[in-house]
Amino acid sequence: MKNDFELLNTWFEDASIEMILTHFLQTYKGRIALASSYGAEDQVLTDMMAKIDPIAKIFSLDTGRLPEETYTLMDQTNRKYGINVEVFCPDKTALEELYKSQGINGFRESIENRKACCQVRKLEPLFRALGGLEVWITGLRRSQSPTRETMQLVEWDEANTLIKLNPLIEWSEQMVWDYINENKVPYNVLHDQGYPSIGCAPCTRAICEGEDLRAGRWWWESSEHKECGLHLKRK
Ligand code: ADX
Ligand code: SF4
Repeated sequence: MKNDFELLNTWFEDASIEMILTHFLQTYKGRIALASSYGAEDQVLTDMMAKIDPIAKIFSLDTGRLPEETYTLMDQTNRKYGINVEVFCPDKTALEELYKSQGINGFRESIENRKACCQVRKLEPLFRALGGLEVWITGLRRSQSPTRETMQLVEWDEANTLIKLNPLIEWSEQMVWDYINENKVPYNVLHDQGYPSIGCAPCTRAICEGEDLRAGRWWWESSEHKECGLHLKRK
């Protein structure tokens, strides 16, 4: 299996992102989906996918704590591309239990609480969203964070037991914005207000000049914890 992925990654070295997406969307038709957080990278991929195959599946995890600007963009994106992004919400019993056990903003009190919140609001819905799929597409880029430096274009996702395709893995932030501007892709207005990386509202702040791109995510935690678990490798 490892060798197969090495071969695929070499094979796609000189291919355009559109060629890679076309190949995967055709090969895995009905068993492949883009996970979109409506970040700049995901909007690039949504634009490309809508042009290649307008009925290709795109889903999003609505944690219930997203910024208002993200909901505005979710609506705007559906309307612009004539698509209906599938939205997965947290399980209501688990959410009620979470409030009972850690209060409203308990995620600020400890890393355990924060992980428990991400588990209920993101990871369990992701598990349901990935059901029946063979490939999930993400907007991950290597230069976003040291925790992402070793990620590959195509890789086996052991934690979720399916193939993970990261088409923009080698793109720089500049390439993302050049694509958005050239193709008039709708994007989150928070990006113009100092938010390069956007997640849940209470866990995202604007960054200052010189700070790294993900400095505004879970800023009260040290950098080795700054992943919600969607993209962690099982040890
Ligand atoms: S996170 O793990 O810190 O939240 P980040 O915001 O950088 O991740 O996004 C990386 C990729 O994870 C996105 O391009 C997208 O594929 C996926 N992702 C993150 N959050 C969501 C979400 N709420 N819904 C769907 N996909 C998501
Ligand atoms: Fe909860 Fe914050 Fe994780 Fe969102 S990012 S699920 S609010 S801990």
